[in-house]
Amino acid sequence: MTSRPSIDLSISPYLQANYAPVLEEHEWDEGDGGLRVEGKVPENLIGAFMRNGPNIAWQPDHYVYPADGDGMVHAVYFKGGRVHYRNRWVRTAGFLVEEQLGRSCYGSVGKIRMPDEETLAAGGPGSPMKNLANTNIVYHGEKLLALWEVGSAYELKADLSTVGEWDYDGALMPGDGLTAHPKICGRTGELITCTQRWDAPYYTLRIMDKNGRQTLSRVVDMPDRAVMHDMQICGDYVVIFYPPAFTNLEAGMTGGNPFIWHGERPSRICAIPRDGGDPVWFEKPTFFSWHFTNGFQSGSKLYVDYVWMATPPFSNDPNSGLERQTRNMHRMTLDLKTGEVTDEKLGPTYCEFGRADDRLCGLQYRYAFAAASDNSEWDGPNHDYNGVIRYDMDTGDTRFWDYGKGANAGEPVHVPNPDSEREEDGYLMTFVSHPEEGAFMSILSAGDIERGPLAKIYIPTRVPNGFHANWMPGLTI
Ligand SMILES: [Fe+2]
Repeated sequence: MTSRPSIDLSISPYLQANYAPVLEEHEWDEGDGGLRVEGKVPENLIGAFMRNGPNIAWQPDHYVYPADGDGMVHAVYFKGGRVHYRNRWVRTAGFLVEEQLGRSCYGSVGKIRMPDEETLAAGGPGSPMKNLANTNIVYHGEKLLALWEVGSAYELKADLSTVGEWDYDGALMPGDGLTAHPKICGRTGELITCTQRWDAPYYTLRIMDKNGRQTLSRVVDMPDRAVMHDMQICGDYVVIFYPPAFTNLEAGMTGGNPFIWHGERPSRICAIPRDGGDPVWFEKPTFFSWHFTNGFQSGSKLYVDYVWMATPPFSNDPNSGLERQTRNMHRMTLDLKTGEVTDEKLGPTYCEFGRADDRLCGLQYRYAFAAASDNSEWDGPNHDYNGVIRYDMDTGDTRFWDYGKGANAGEPVHVPNPDSEREEDGYLMTFVSHPEEGAFMSILSAGDIERGPLAKIYIPTRVPNGFHANWMPGLTI
């Protein structure tokens, strides 16, 4: 490994405490100074829990969370009640040239610049933005893909080594930014995804069959490229939010603020038929959202569960992404017949990263889960997701599990119990950073989160705060 000089982390609040990168790759088995398991790991689980997130390798000259940092995947593999951990950077073309030159070669999303001649001569991509592959990791059509949203996917092997860029056998063209938030339909196994471009047409809905072959590519007319991070299947429709949030690349390359927020405009919502029919547009007073939780269709109504926020974080402070506002779970109802939009706040708890049983993605379901905070001190760089919240969508009941003061829990992933169809028989997995206990992976019972972890898998090295995680059924090394 290239020796790495220390990094001045003081340039961003999102490079400090457990946002700081780890600069080494590790593997740990149970015992002998490796993983320590408290409780009992379910013996019937075979597969891997994987989480992606930003992890800089070299001194940056500018940093904007959550948009910067090379992707690093942390994985815990399960087989017969035994576990194994490893972490690996996604070796993108930009990452490799920086390893070769021993320095950072690209700007940040908040301070965009073209790579210099030495970088280009060394074979570095000529794009002003480095494909970070840092946002999500999904397993579909027997391909394990690290996803960003402004470039192509990077295929990984089960052991997290990087294979290279994946364009779905030429279905994607240069300049197509593949979303980091595709959804796998619980009914058909199809991957519902999209690409966005800097030039028109800005948005293309795509459907890949369960084997990963494209079966539909449909341009959806958009007046501009808005910040559209996520998408949601709702029965026969795909729902996307079109907020009045835009990016100005030219401003970003000349030292200006690359983020534009027109808070005086309404937010628009688009429901696109999955069969390729004409989209239906709705309007709602301005809001912003990074993430959906789930959605479903009942007759002519679409139900969309998501995490609401008033404005995008970068509208508060474009230099750091630092935000001081709440985020709450909401249910939006779209009436396809009348065009009416209703919206309900499902509780006061500050939360993010909503998830549900993926077998019910796009279908009626009962339980939603999210990383959550039960204190009011979330208005700093550490979002303080000190726990997990469960929403019972049938009764309105909420339950909370608290990992303790100062803890930070990541996205809670519902892992189905392979021996049961019931949502509540599944497990809830997440990485937790704890001020006294260090890093551990938590396994809660989806049906009884208040019981506390069924197992804690302590990891000797730090697992920085990150983004999205998924369960990869059957994937082992
Ligand atoms: Fe996301």
